[in-house]
Amino acid sequence: MTIHDDAPATGTPGKNRGASGVASGDIKCREIFKWFGSSLIIEDLNLDIAHNEFVCVVGPSGCGKTTLLRMIAGLTDIDNGSIEIGGTRVTKPLATVGVVFQQFGLFPWKTVLRNVALPMRAAGVSKEEAFTRAREAIELVGLKGSDAKYPAQLSGGMKQRAGLARALAIRPEVILLDEPFAAVDAQTREILQEELLNLWGRHKQTAVFITHSIDEAITLADRVIVMGAHPGRVVKEIPIPIERPRTVASVRRDPLYPSLREEIWDLLRIPTSTPKGQ
Ligand SMILES: Nc1ncnc2c1ncn2[C@@H]1O[C@H](COP(=O)(O)OP(=O)(O)OP(=O)(O)O)[C@@H](O)[C@H]1O
Ligand SMILES: [Mg+2]
Repeated sequence: MTIHDDAPATGTPGKNRGASGVASGDIKCREIFKWFGSSLIIEDLNLDIAHNEFVCVVGPSGCGKTTLLRMIAGLTDIDNGSIEIGGTRVTKPLATVGVVFQQFGLFPWKTVLRNVALPMRAAGVSKEEAFTRAREAIELVGLKGSDAKYPAQLSGGMKQRAGLARALAIRPEVILLDEPFAAVDAQTREILQEELLNLWGRHKQTAVFITHSIDEAITLADRVIVMGAHPGRVVKEIPIPIERPRTVASVRRDPLYPSLREEIWDLLRIPTSTPKGQ
């Protein structure tokens, strides 16, 4: 069973690129500015994320990570600049993009199956196909047998798996995850990280994953984007050249791990200026 049977063979530069040289999972953020009221939240942010790349974004609280993710998702307006996904300018949520938030976002009165099928139903997919794809996604994230359960009957880790299944079931080219594992205990978090590593290894797609955990970022990412605050901007992009396939333990044992961890820590310790416009 695969959720992404029609997915392109991935990880190969040049594959899945049209004549324009743009691949369906490429994300381009150009000269992004964002204000909330008179506060400048994001200033001149430029970021390129490649098709099937796994990027983690870290940065101090309030630096604009969620705002950036929501702009990529087409859920928050951009005040200046542009974001393109696969060459299409983002002005509203795109059908090729799946989003997973920290707070699961499951409807308590719907079963797991119906929660996972919901975005497909909203997009006009027939009930039969939506349920088939939802069942596949539920199995893929390790929730087989929980189709008929309600969110209240699930543990935090299971709810997060259901949220992931809902995003994967739409077969997105791009998956955006905002601190998806922050609400679960440390042990479940590591299990979910390993499952995500496995899943992404088998069904690659472009992933943008926000986290406050440097360890999580190094474990998952091809590249860590470090943001600074006031206003939010990219401070540094750090490639993570640790070999794949990875496990949580293999990453921690890697000789590159301590220096990568230290470099990111040092960048996050840089003091930020006072908020502009406040
Ligand atoms: N809808 C909104 N209206 C007004 N201000 C907002 C809105 N959303 C976010 N902000 C402000 O924008 C700034 C960035 O918020 P954002 O949620 O993007 O930060 P973040 O980096 O995700 O923080 P955290 O790590 O705490 O989740 C904050 O100062 C926040 O108060
Ligand atoms: Mg946030």
